[in-house]
Amino acid sequence: MADEVLTLPERIPYHVAVIMDGNGRWAKSRGLPRLAGHRAGVENLRRILRACSEFGIKILTIYAFSTENWGRPEAEVRGLMNILETVIDRELNQLNANGVQLRHIGELDGLSAMLQAKVRKAIDMTRNNDQLVLNVAFNYGGRQDLLQAIRRIVEDGVPSEEIDEKLVDYYLYTAGQPDPDLVIRTAGEMRLSNFLLWQASYAEYYATPAYWPDFDRDELLKALVYFARRERRFGLVLQP
Ligand code: FPP
Repeated sequence: MADEVLTLPERIPYHVAVIMDGNGRWAKSRGLPRLAGHRAGVENLRRILRACSEFGIKILTIYAFSTENWGRPEAEVRGLMNILETVIDRELNQLNANGVQLRHIGELDGLSAMLQAKVRKAIDMTRNNDQLVLNVAFNYGGRQDLLQAIRRIVEDGVPSEEIDEKLVDYYLYTAGQPDPDLVIRTAGEMRLSNFLLWQASYAEYYATPAYWPDFDRDELLKALVYFARRERRFGLVLQP
């Protein structure tokens, strides 16, 4: 299976986006607290980052905290904030050494001032890295992304006839980045859950029952084989 993908490099998706679902169920199935599942999720992220570099994926976007996640129990919200902080404190140097460029999509407002400062520092420190871009969607919602874009377009006084897809792209959190080619969702659901609503319009969608902490390199490879076999038409009819 590996050979099949690796002999088709033009079929390796440039940008992969992942809805890392199932941490809670993974923990529950082991009799562990939900936060243990999120910590196992971070461990897995490390593995998947390595696999992305191995397979030549250039952009990985992860859905780490949605605008809806504020509705979770306070202790879990606090735990997820702590995880982001710990990841930055403990992993930043290694990520930087591995050529990972960290970017944030979503609203930093709502995070503590200290966490905001840490995220900004991480972005600044890694901005010239080019091995892999890691977009961390944290306090992100697809509708919020569109709303903030619309508001800023209005504030900038852009004439309506100048508003086209390229202009909207420019105002989104993902400005300057190509759209995801492949969206992966773990833990079985067949929903986009307010993730990259505009950007994922033409992405291939791959869902697997594996919980995120179990979604390892070989599971990623299965998703890549699926992608390599898809014929992307972008709404067009392919000529014979
Ligand atoms: C969904 O699982 C997962 C999340 C809401 C959070 C994902 C976060 C991480 C993997 C760690 C954060 C990483 C960084 C870099 C900050 P769920 O809790 O909804 O699982 P369930 O549906 O089984 O309950």
